[in-house]
Amino acid sequence: MCGIVGYLGPRQAYPIIITGLKRQEYRGYDSTGVALINNDLTVYKKKGKVTELEQSLIGIDVSAHIGIGHTRWATHGEPSDKNAHPHQSASGKLAMIHNGIIENYNQLKQELLNKGYQFKSDTDTEVLLNFIEEIQLNNQCTLEEALRIALKRVAGAYVILILDENNPDTIIAARKGSPLVIGIGKGEHFLGSDATPMLEYTKEVVYVNDYEIAIIKADELILKNLGNERQTPYISKLDLELAAIEKGGFEHFMLKEIFEQPITIYDCLRGRLDAAAGTITMAGVQKYILELTSANRIIILACGTSWHAALLAEYVIEELCRIPVEVDYASEFRYRNPIIAQGDVIIAISQSGETADTLVAIEKAKEAGAIIFGVVNVVGSSIARVSHAGAYTHAGPEIGVASTKAFTAQLVLMIMIALKIAKEKSSISHQRYSHLLFELEDLPQKVEAILKNADELKVIAEKYKDVSDALYLGRGYNFPIALEGALKLKEVSYIHAEGYPAAEMKHGPIALVDEKLPVVFIATRDESHGKIVSNIQEIKARKGKVIAIITEGDEIIPGMADDVFFVPPADEIVAPLLSTIPLQLLSYYLGVAKGCDVDKPRNLAKSVTVE
Ligand code: AGP
Repeated sequence: MCGIVGYLGPRQAYPIIITGLKRQEYRGYDSTGVALINNDLTVYKKKGKVTELEQSLIGIDVSAHIGIGHTRWATHGEPSDKNAHPHQSASGKLAMIHNGIIENYNQLKQELLNKGYQFKSDTDTEVLLNFIEEIQLNNQCTLEEALRIALKRVAGAYVILILDENNPDTIIAARKGSPLVIGIGKGEHFLGSDATPMLEYTKEVVYVNDYEIAIIKADELILKNLGNERQTPYISKLDLELAAIEKGGFEHFMLKEIFEQPITIYDCLRGRLDAAAGTITMAGVQKYILELTSANRIIILACGTSWHAALLAEYVIEELCRIPVEVDYASEFRYRNPIIAQGDVIIAISQSGETADTLVAIEKAKEAGAIIFGVVNVVGSSIARVSHAGAYTHAGPEIGVASTKAFTAQLVLMIMIALKIAKEKSSISHQRYSHLLFELEDLPQKVEAILKNADELKVIAEKYKDVSDALYLGRGYNFPIALEGALKLKEVSYIHAEGYPAAEMKHGPIALVDEKLPVVFIATRDESHGKIVSNIQEIKARKGKVIAIITEGDEIIPGMADDVFFVPPADEIVAPLLSTIPLQLLSYYLGVAKGCDVDKPRNLAKSVTVE
């Protein structure tokens, strides 16, 4: 879950790498480093964020036209100067950065220890680098050849970039499982875990595939497979603007992304939904509409916030399409022996498209003959490329580690997919279908209206900033939103929180209730409103503090709850999306009130590319 950056060409490499690393910090930020070649190979690295490394290099000659850089999320070896990347080989001539995990590194390390190697760090990366150099020395072969031999012995996931003091005009890279993008410039090349380090320099990129090695010079890019066969680089055009990845006047990316949702929801609908015409146009869904409508079962795989979108999609698809849906944590699905029958359709939901648990799970399901439909935000990401078909959420780059706008776009997309299947199956009436299309079309302006009252949540957050626990409760379609609200609070404020189906509360969690525990109810008007009112009374009877998200015009709950926040009325299928916004804001303001780094919460990273 690290960020990697590389540059070679006529420009100064160091400033490009440092700026690129800052843009990659959402991937990991516990230690950082750069390696440059200016005649000699030099490595600078330390524990802490990119700005701290930058500070430490003021006054140092960092001039060079070739370099690599890394920002880390520790897997093997705690965050420290010695475990920071780049790592140097025993000879000191090679420097390498790595994103991923070498699963059999202990075995490789033992072989090297038996040959007298010593290690400066606790990392799998240093082991792999010395393993490569050992092969090069032993076989008297080129670094490229040594790498090819070594990678055939490696188990795990990796993107590696290597600098070689003896070949000061070349970066060698390899990829399996973790993302690598190469930007094509005039007489220069840029490398990154995503395209953000190269946005202002080029719009032409190559997404490197698994088991490919790239030999990069300023004016040449060669791609080969592990069989040493040349591969033709497929150049894609980037449609990402620099502004999209800057804060735009907001204090944090998380707040910017929360306020972007009227636009991102509109972008997700744009060109797909036409309520007046009664149409939903989604080429990926249309391509597999037969398989989707005749599926015996739909399995939705995801992790974290995307799993909450999957849970809501289960309710919606079963309600509208009358197809049985199973929602699984991708990591559990991966290792339990799931029954995958011919004709089963797997939907994989992922913002980054790089989450290893989800990627490996769908690769397994694909081998077993399932159709894989990807719902992804990052264009060109691994899950998108492994899927048979899919749909992008078009929420734009999400920099804040806590997912917000991608989640609401996932909900919109899953509801559109369900409506398209239901229409094809005639499993709902035309009135209901048309009504829901207009409900979706109205979402951007309803979200706009909610955001206008954001300050109300700032006041509520101030009131509860010293609590240590919280409970989130919802019924039906609002249950997944209770889970999501609790996750957001945990992620950005470090307050322990749990989401539960409101009725489940009586079977245990109610024991937690006292005058210090805030209980957040998602209590918008729907068939179970009466039931949720009783649940609120049960909490108040035990002196619990109630914060309720309710529908405009609700005259019952304001008299019972300690704090309320109104959302516009909407159909019970889309109302959960509206209730998500105040929960995002509540967690944001609580995190800020507690002085937390809401964009880069401790111990987290935006894209979890290791199992
Ligand atoms: C959500 O705020 C978290 N960043 C995390 O739970 C995330 O949803 C999870 O890691 C899945 O990521 P994905 O959607 O990119 O696959």
